[in-house]
Amino acid sequence: MRTLLVTGGAGFIGSNFIRHMLIAHADVRVVNLDKLTYAGNLSNLKDIEDDPRYTFVRGDISDRSLVNRLLRDEDVHSILNFAAESHVDRSVLDASPFVTTNIGGTLALLDAAREHGVHRFVQISTDEVYGSLDSEGVFHEESPISPNNPYAATKAAAELLCRAYYRTYGVPVIITRSSNNYGPYQFPEKLIPLMIRNALGGKPLPIYGEGKQVRDWLHVKDNCLAIDLVRERGEGGSVYNIGGSCEKENIEVVERICSILESTMVKEVAASSDHLSPHDLIEFIDDPRGAAHDFRYALDSSRIRESLGWSPTIGFADGLKSTVAWYRTHREWTENVISGEYQEYYEKVYG
Ligand code: NAD
Ligand code: DAU
Repeated sequence: MRTLLVTGGAGFIGSNFIRHMLIAHADVRVVNLDKLTYAGNLSNLKDIEDDPRYTFVRGDISDRSLVNRLLRDEDVHSILNFAAESHVDRSVLDASPFVTTNIGGTLALLDAAREHGVHRFVQISTDEVYGSLDSEGVFHEESPISPNNPYAATKAAAELLCRAYYRTYGVPVIITRSSNNYGPYQFPEKLIPLMIRNALGGKPLPIYGEGKQVRDWLHVKDNCLAIDLVRERGEGGSVYNIGGSCEKENIEVVERICSILESTMVKEVAASSDHLSPHDLIEFIDDPRGAAHDFRYALDSSRIRESLGWSPTIGFADGLKSTVAWYRTHREWTENVISGEYQEYYEKVYG
């Protein structure tokens, strides 16, 4: 039995990853270390909380004595570092928690990994480290790192520490850079769940600027499959792009959500709003990201496709439909994870 330390496992991707691992691998134990910030919710893992191969520890990845104790007492084989402050708009309001967790926390984990000789350290990073593209071109793993917003800068800094620890001390680090994830259990501050929640509640759908920015959408289950492959068979010291090959303008994504809602649950939406069509709820607002708003991300994922045989399995039409259905049937989850803090944040960004 191998023990994995998954950090940030009560968040969106981490909770999907833990569920995937426990189902896919009978010989794996998971210790989930999570601070439970506003974005971490144990209800994301309700269905597996009694699994004897799963242990939850509430704590901070920057807490060196805790991390060292866990690596020693739990005999950790591999670390998968999902824990992060992950929302760009929050980093524009205040970068300091991003620096503390994304950089300082990663450093604490790397030091502990070095001391205890873990066999694998998978750093979950992002395509945002590359910066922004115009309408042409894609990012390769060798493209220069050029982050534009504070969140992306802290993720890039964490990556550079990972690289340096691999080179200097031989800590067996692998980095994944994925594009925008969507799917169940995503905190409703991100584009897709925010729009679904607002539309279901008959609230405005706030699109930044003209909604022309392009994101490359990847279903979270496909990202989990990719991370699992990298964990098992990835090459130490390497970086792997994990892209959905599914570029969409923001306005198209929101229009599609509206159309799904309109065709499948128009009565429910109409009942909670004066608007007959969710499309009428779309509002174009001043862009809170300003000049820091990256125009387009697109990834070349040939490395993971060719060397590990990965490719996305869930198309955007099906994935978005099932995601809308999930939020529709999990409205209690959505309302429970939103705290008073979320209302304050919403006021600050959307007015
Ligand atoms: P999330 O915000 O949903 O979850 C983050 C989790 O980390 C939460 O459970 C939170 O409580 C925990 N956490 C935060 N600070 C911590 C600390 N100091 N110690 C321990 N736990 C802490 O984020 P997500 O969307 O699931 O993203 C997970 C990872 O994937 C992040 O590293 C993010 O940068 C990266 N990523 C996300 C996306 C995406 O589209 N969501 C895409 C590429 C990369
Ligand atoms: O690309 C990977 C990154 O994707 C991850 O590293 C980040 O952790 C994750 O949050 C995500 O960042 P984005 O900024 O791309 O995602 P977000 O869902 O916040 O926004 C997607 C696009 O939608 C972006 O162009 C901004 C726009 N947007 C977002 C919100 C929340 C709106 O127009 N209106 C909104 O209300």
